[in-house]
Amino acid sequence: MSTSVLVTYTSSYGSTQEVAEVIATTLREQGVKVDLRPIREVQTLAGHKAVVLGAPLYMFHWHKDARRFLARFQCELTHGLPLAVFAGGPIEDTCEQWQDRRRDLDQELAKFPWLTTVSVQLIGGKFDPTKLRLPYSLLPALQNMPACDLRDWPAIRAWASVLIEEFQPVM
Ligand SMILES: Cc1cc2nc3c(=O)[nH]c(=O)nc-3n(C[C@H](O)[C@H](O)[C@H](O)COP(=O)(O)O)c2cc1C
Repeated sequence: MSTSVLVTYTSSYGSTQEVAEVIATTLREQGVKVDLRPIREVQTLAGHKAVVLGAPLYMFHWHKDARRFLARFQCELTHGLPLAVFAGGPIEDTCEQWQDRRRDLDQELAKFPWLTTVSVQLIGGKFDPTKLRLPYSLLPALQNMPACDLRDWPAIRAWASVLIEEFQPVM
């Protein structure tokens, strides 16, 4: 039976997918067998010894694919399968924004009172007003925001590199 770590993600504009790919690469460099796939392609958690789940925040909520994943796999996640979570979010680099977005993420996770996580990481978001799709492309407040990429790659790799320890004793 395969015993890989599942790194699963959802991504509307691609930035969370890129983060998931770097996390998967970092784990593989440590000799970990990794199964990297979009949340919607996950049929079962059988054969996985730990899970890394990543999704962006949109309009103060964690992406619905991630919330559905938690609801769907509650049984497995409450019976010994360790879970680490990351969320892409802040697109304004102020202390207030980081604190508020972290609060939003914590509130989203609190909707699953049974949930235990070995680690939760808020990651900077990537934003490009020229790439917005409907209906968001119609919102002046978003159109006028500057493009940014607040993903801190050394910090992302550092977070991924200690996941093996966080997942003990299953690793
Ligand atoms: C319409 C829209 C709404 C957003 N709402 C939030 C939000 O409520 N909280 C937050 O932290 N980031 C928010 N963001 C920033 C995204 O989370 C960020 O751009 C992220 O990197 C997108 O991930 P993706 O490229 O994987 O879809 C929003 C972005 C857009 C375009």
